[in-house]
Amino acid sequence: MITSGLFLITGAVFMILHFFQFVAFGVAGAKLVSRIRSKAFACFLRQEVAYFDRPENGSGAICTHLSSNAAAIEDMVGTRLGVICETLSLSVFGFVLGLFFNWQLTIIIAIPFVLLLIISIIQIRLSSWLKTQSDLIYSQASTLAVEVITNMRTVKQLSMEHEVSRQYTNMIDQVLIMFWKPEAMFSIVLGLYWAMDSATLGLLYWRALVLVEKNEMDMSDVVMISAFGMFALEALKMVGMLAERIGKSFAAAHAFFDLFDRTPTIDNGSNKGQELTNFSGETDFNQVKFVYPSRPTVLVLNKLQLSIKSGQRIALVGASGCGKSTIVQLLERFYDVTHGELLLDGVDIRKLNLQWLRSRLGVVSQEPVLFDLTIAEN
Ligand SMILES: Nc1ncnc2c1ncn2[C@@H]1O[C@H](COP(=O)(O)OP(=O)(O)O)[C@@H](O)[C@H]1O
Ligand SMILES: [Mg+2]
Repeated sequence: MITSGLFLITGAVFMILHFFQFVAFGVAGAKLVSRIRSKAFACFLRQEVAYFDRPENGSGAICTHLSSNAAAIEDMVGTRLGVICETLSLSVFGFVLGLFFNWQLTIIIAIPFVLLLIISIIQIRLSSWLKTQSDLIYSQASTLAVEVITNMRTVKQLSMEHEVSRQYTNMIDQVLIMFWKPEAMFSIVLGLYWAMDSATLGLLYWRALVLVEKNEMDMSDVVMISAFGMFALEALKMVGMLAERIGKSFAAAHAFFDLFDRTPTIDNGSNKGQELTNFSGETDFNQVKFVYPSRPTVLVLNKLQLSIKSGQRIALVGASGCGKSTIVQLLERFYDVTHGELLLDGVDIRKLNLQWLRSRLGVVSQEPVLFDLTIAEN
């Protein structure tokens, strides 16, 4: 009667504690993921224009990053992280108690335990590597998709549907080829996790009976240690089952940390730099050489010498691709000159406050750009 009562009380306590555990981890996880998403977006906005010229940072890649990596983290933090913490602590607890009661039997459990631990770590690292590799391909595929969707009229007019569909499928198939061997390996490992249970129990009972026969152990201890041992193994098995997803979330976290730690070469969030009073707009390109960072072999501007006086109206005329827009982009400080200097009122443009500089410039580009907002907001 007392024992039944105790079990009932334990159940009630478990229920209350788990309620708090799930609420705490769930709320913390949801907050963390939303903070990561906002911070990542803000970090993208801070990067210099050249960052977005790189193929790995195309529009599709960034969307994949924001959605899939945040989802991978979301998958692991929150209530699931709570369960992992709980099972790992139960595992250690079971193990220590087992050692306390009978170390000879507990050592038998230690062998599969260590084995499973090593396998889980390998699985986590492999899955993390696979996610990083497959994300590279997925982001190329997404960039293609975004390009096709934004230029749908051109695609349709040239009847390119089959071609772009073939390119997209080719990319996705690469991921399939990359994954099938590791996936097969993961399945073998999962089978191993389940087999390990029975194998360990078999070994444990055999050893226990030997010890009981030699009168070195009491029968009640056998039950106790088996329970603790199974506790420890079950917990680890659970982590092993999640290893693939844990690995993915590690890779995602890595990608976010890389982004958060990146210092943009031209930082539009920076408050540093001079603000010129009585700015007259005198502009001097002094022996300016320029190559786009994404195309280092092509010299776009070669020793450009150009002086524009305050109030002077000038027109840059030249064949398409000769570098007119590039000159404007250097003035907007989307890029920095590779050699030489660009002076505004005699001050190197790199010494000026970026926000102030851009607020001084008015640009009307060839292609009007409309955002998906109201007319007033545009
Ligand atoms: N973001 C970029 N990355 C790499 N090369 C570029 C980029 N933008 C322009 N270019 C190259 O720089 C050269 C000059 O381009 P641009 O200044 O746009 O010419 P224009 O405005 O005179 O037609 C061209 O060869 C063009 O292909
Ligand atoms: Mg142009």
